Amino acid sequence: MYKIPAKTLFVGKNLVFTPECHSTNSLALELSHKAGTPEGSVVVTDHQTAGRGQMGNTWNAEPNKNLTFSIILYPSFLPASDQFLLNVVSSLTLKNLLSNVHGLPVKIKWPNDIMVDDKKIAGILIENTLAGNLLKASVIGIGLNINQKEFPFPTATSLLKSTDRSFDKDEQLRLLLEEFETIYVMLRAGKGEKLRDDYIRSLYWINENHTFQSNSTPFEGVIDGVDDAGRLLVSTQSKKYAFNTKEVRYIH
Ligand code: BTN
Repeated sequence: MYKIPAKTLFVGKNLVFTPECHSTNSLALELSHKAGTPEGSVVVTDHQTAGRGQMGNTWNAEPNKNLTFSIILYPSFLPASDQFLLNVVSSLTLKNLLSNVHGLPVKIKWPNDIMVDDKKIAGILIENTLAGNLLKASVIGIGLNINQKEFPFPTATSLLKSTDRSFDKDEQLRLLLEEFETIYVMLRAGKGEKLRDDYIRSLYWINENHTFQSNSTPFEGVIDGVDDAGRLLVSTQSKKYAFNTKEVRYIH
C-alpha cells in the first residue's frame, strides 16, 4: 500500500498502515507513549471512522480518496512555550507541497487551516504531551483532501477539484513526509524564527482589512502576524489585540 519514503532519515521510516481506524491521531498517541516507538513513526489509514478536528470538531474524509495520517515526534529540544512552532512546521509543509509542487495559490488560515482560493484543502490537529516545561511527545495529524470530488460544504476543496487532475496518494504522502522532515530539521537547527516569518508571510488575510468576531461582537481589523505564543495579532483603528484560538472568528 503506502511505501516507506527513500529520501528521509527518520520521518516515515516506521510506517504503520491500517486500512481502517477511528483516528490515526488516537492510534499515534497510544504508540507515542509506548517505549521503543521511533521518532518520525507515521500512522496512516484509508478510512477514518471517527476522525478528529480542531476544537472538538470531527474530520470527515471519503474513504480511499484522501490522505489521513499522523506523525509521531519527540521534540524534547522545544520549550512548551514554543510549541506553536510545530503548527508552523506542519502548515509550511503543506503550503510548500501545494504551492511549489502543484503551483496552487495557498494561504495558511491561522492557526493551521490550509486554504486554496478561499477553500479549505487540508487540516492539522496537533496533540502535545508535556513533561514539565518541555515537550515530551507530539502527534501531528494531517488530513489532506486528494481525490474527493464532492463535499458537504462549499468551503472545502481537494487537489482534484483545484487542479482537475487525480493524484497518487502514496506519492503525495512521500513528498509530504520528505518536506516535513526538511522543515522539522530546520526547526531543530534553531531556525524557528525564520520559519515563523515564512508562516506569517503566508497567512490568509495578512495585512488586509476584514471583519472578525469576538465575544459575539463583530469588528473591523487587520491581521499583523502571530506572537511567540502563537496568538493571532489583529489591530483595529483604536487597539491591538492578541487572540487565542477560541477567541476570534473570521467573518468576511
Ligand atoms: C481540523 O482542521 O479541524 C483538523 C483536522 C485534522 C484531521 C486529521 S486526519 C488524520 C488525523 N487523525 C485525526 O483524527 N485527525 C487528524
